[in-house]
Amino acid sequence: MCGIVGYIGYRNAVPMILDGLTKLEYRGYDSAGLSIQTGTTLSLRKAKGRVDELRKLVRQDPICGQVGIGHTRWATHGPATDINAHPHLGGDREVSVVHNGVIENYQTLKSQLETLGFRFYSQTDTEVIAHLIAHHLREQQKLEAPWPHTRTAIQVLEQTLAKLKGTYGLGVLFRDLSDCLLVARAGSPLVIGLGDGENFIASDAAPLSGHTDQVVYLSDHELALMTPEGVEILHRDTGRQNLAIQTLDPVSAESDKGDYAHFMLKEIFEQPMTVENALRGRLDEDEATAVFGGLNIDPQPLRNIDRVVLTACGTSWHAGLVGEYLLEEFARIPTEVEYASELRYRNPPMDRNTMIFAITQSGETADTLAAMRETQRKGHPSLAICNVVGSTIAREADGGIYLHAGTEVGVASTKAFTSQVTVLTLLALYLGRMRHLSHPAGQKMIEGLQQMPERIAETLQCYEQVKQIAEKYYDRENFLYLGRLYNFPVALEGALKLKEISYIHAEGYPAAEMKHGPIALVEERTPSVFVIPRGGIYPKVISNLEEVKARKGPVIAVACRGDERVKQLADHVIEIPDVEEYLQPLVASIPLQLLAYQIAVLRGCEVDRPRNLAKSVTVE
Ligand code: AGP
Repeated sequence: MCGIVGYIGYRNAVPMILDGLTKLEYRGYDSAGLSIQTGTTLSLRKAKGRVDELRKLVRQDPICGQVGIGHTRWATHGPATDINAHPHLGGDREVSVVHNGVIENYQTLKSQLETLGFRFYSQTDTEVIAHLIAHHLREQQKLEAPWPHTRTAIQVLEQTLAKLKGTYGLGVLFRDLSDCLLVARAGSPLVIGLGDGENFIASDAAPLSGHTDQVVYLSDHELALMTPEGVEILHRDTGRQNLAIQTLDPVSAESDKGDYAHFMLKEIFEQPMTVENALRGRLDEDEATAVFGGLNIDPQPLRNIDRVVLTACGTSWHAGLVGEYLLEEFARIPTEVEYASELRYRNPPMDRNTMIFAITQSGETADTLAAMRETQRKGHPSLAICNVVGSTIAREADGGIYLHAGTEVGVASTKAFTSQVTVLTLLALYLGRMRHLSHPAGQKMIEGLQQMPERIAETLQCYEQVKQIAEKYYDRENFLYLGRLYNFPVALEGALKLKEISYIHAEGYPAAEMKHGPIALVEERTPSVFVIPRGGIYPKVISNLEEVKARKGPVIAVACRGDERVKQLADHVIEIPDVEEYLQPLVASIPLQLLAYQIAVLRGCEVDRPRNLAKSVTVE
């Protein structure tokens, strides 16, 4: 989490930093700050709240300079306050630092620095880095190292980094060096933008758009010395690196809400298109299979796979659960879905022919990245199902499949989920056709998939009805979400959506599990959302629904169009098109996204930026 922006060049750095921070607010938005090298001092402006608060502060109390760093924070150590906001100053205002990540040994370092006389103002782990740099600078000065001098600055930073345990993306300014910006990375992404007489840094490429399309992604254990004229990259172990320059795709106008009140709503309504994008060019009707450009694995090793592990967090983990059902049904490959945060520290036995898929919208989720690296270390081919092109996971995976869903801005993931499920369905088709799936069965899957954009568009017509249902229940304290088989992960995802943006307690359960505990929650004020389209065990879910009704629990049902049985039983029925069971998550999840959205709006919640959350979770 947290976003970093930096500039060094010939223009005033402040507008670029403020605009860049606004584009990075999805990474954290509880406070923001910037520091400017003014020639002889390091000026600082910091404010609790959104980047707009910082903008106001800078308007009231302007600063200007051609070198600067900025930060938007998602608090890890210490609450969101002006003082805890970054940048942090070190020593006698000799250094200023912005940091993304977590320093695990900060307490030990802090005690050592306090003994040496350094005074701490904030509760952050980052202030330790700033003082540690100042400490090493003083030590170098005692040794009469040349100062001010960029080589000494690099040496001091290297000595500091050697003492840090944990993760960091860092931007560092020195009071006495007016034409130098240092950056370093271990575990938290940083991209350098190359301009003409000016250079940029950012946590991802978004703030660079409009400034440059030439970028270099910093790798772990690299630091970079940036001046207006150039960039030099040094690796901790291998020394000076060549600049691996990449050209960014032109950024489209996706980050505009258009006529929608929120990005989340816009993204929900984009799903007919985003699912179509996930399918585009990937259906081979002649061979009745799917085609992927970037798996980077020959068919034979794919045929030899005897186990798949899907690893992810949050919504992507829910997509993984749908993937498990798909891969086991169509490819007959035993599949497990692992929380990445668990897998990274577990040591489950994995056979040689186990293949890993890391599922992630952002491609930057720290736990998913760590889980993928762990499986790669053990020699398993590890592929990514990812949305953000050029993200760390996309770059480090052995191959993968992009979602092509376009930028997802809303913190609550919606279109990424349906695109992930679409890609996993394609994967099940592809691996299935290498094994047990017949040509006609493959063709049938292709036909079903081709219809999905239209079926999703039809489903979206339920929005007006969902608004009325939301009016009735938006003041409730608890919700249950229930579904079975393919719709169990849909229930989990519906509950997560409601929780994260409306702050209502919601639980997702396999409908039949309800009687083993959650049924105790059922009463007149607790609505149960049943995902109950037709299918093999439909009568069983009907029984579960009746059990809730018998206890006077209100029922909102998501059912197939024209389902009279459900209409008789439920208090409200949201109709979805009748599609094959394995495709139901793609339509059944839509009303649940809309319901969560509308309830959050009615409760006056900040839909796109819910409290305590961030779009990209780059800390453990
Ligand atoms: C979804 O609405 C969440 N905000 C969150 O659970 C998210 O899906 C999770 O953090 C994983 O993110 P990723 O897909 O970018 O890896």
